[in-house]
Amino acid sequence: MITLGGRTVVLTGASGGIGAALAAALVDAGATVLAVGRDPMKLNAMVHRHRPGAVVPVTADLCTPAGRAAVVAQAATMSPSLLVIAHAQGAFGLFEDQAETELAALVQTNLVAPMLLIRAMLPLLQAQPGAAVVAVGSTFGALAFPGFAAYSASKFGLRGLIEALGREHAGGTVRFQYLAPRATRTAFNTPAVDALNAELKTAQDDPKDVATQLLDAIRRGDRRRQLGWPEKLFARLNGVFPALIDRALRGQLPVVRRHARAASPVVLEKTHEIASH
Ligand SMILES: NC(=O)c1ccc[n+]([C@@H]2O[C@H](COP(=O)([O-])OP(=O)(O)OC[C@H]3O[C@@H](n4cnc5c(N)ncnc54)[C@H](OP(=O)(O)O)[C@@H]3O)[C@@H](O)[C@H]2O)c1
Repeated sequence: MITLGGRTVVLTGASGGIGAALAAALVDAGATVLAVGRDPMKLNAMVHRHRPGAVVPVTADLCTPAGRAAVVAQAATMSPSLLVIAHAQGAFGLFEDQAETELAALVQTNLVAPMLLIRAMLPLLQAQPGAAVVAVGSTFGALAFPGFAAYSASKFGLRGLIEALGREHAGGTVRFQYLAPRATRTAFNTPAVDALNAELKTAQDDPKDVATQLLDAIRRGDRRRQLGWPEKLFARLNGVFPALIDRALRGQLPVVRRHARAASPVVLEKTHEIASH
């Protein structure tokens, strides 16, 4: 088991639902958390919720070189041995209704920014014994879901990045872990996603429980872990018998389409335009 006490952890998405719960669990385990987010007010509120010095805030937009440089500069003063990537953006809707800029920004946030931050942080991590890079993925990183095409693509990409790096660094000092939560009750999910989950009877976890499971996987050094049952089974089935999952999701498609339409004003605008002509 890996000990977390005394470690400095760089945690992105620290102001988010899962990130804030994970920050609290890491602080309870004796770690110092360098908390990264874009909103200084949210980060300062976190600082005051924990023992003095346990949370060090860094305001940074990880999609910018300046934002990533600010994280690395602060981390360089604190000998970090764990980088946890827990930031992301979502986008629920039918692919053809989503704007080009939205799709590009999503991939930039969920895949390009983690890739470049990991690259920039590696020299610092390699200087510490028992270092690890932990990426928070998603069930949709193993089982691509209709209505979440770009998000699924970004999480498949993140999983591939972490798996390849783990293999490239086999026998090295830095461990690479990809840990995938299932649906979790946070602000990440819009009302349309919540409505879809309710109709499909998709279980949603509490962020505190997710944080507990993530911490356990970090301590155990798991290279990969899917959280939740039956998601564990479905993610594996998708790898071995994807046609089975194709068939199951085909049945859910009308429900997905209805909620996706409700989520995408582009479609409503188009329908309105057609109706008024
Ligand atoms: N919630 C779910 O159902 C669910 C399910 C499976 C996997 N996940 C994954 O779990 C992770 C955490 O999700 P969550 O539910 O905690 O999401 P959340 O509550 O929406 O939090 C997202 C976090 O990402 C940060 N962020 C977004 N874009 C950023 C950027 N460009 N630069 C810096 N920070 C940025 C946000 O910070 P600001 O304060 O700057 O906005 C916030 O801290 C994500 O990787 C998500 O894909 C979530």
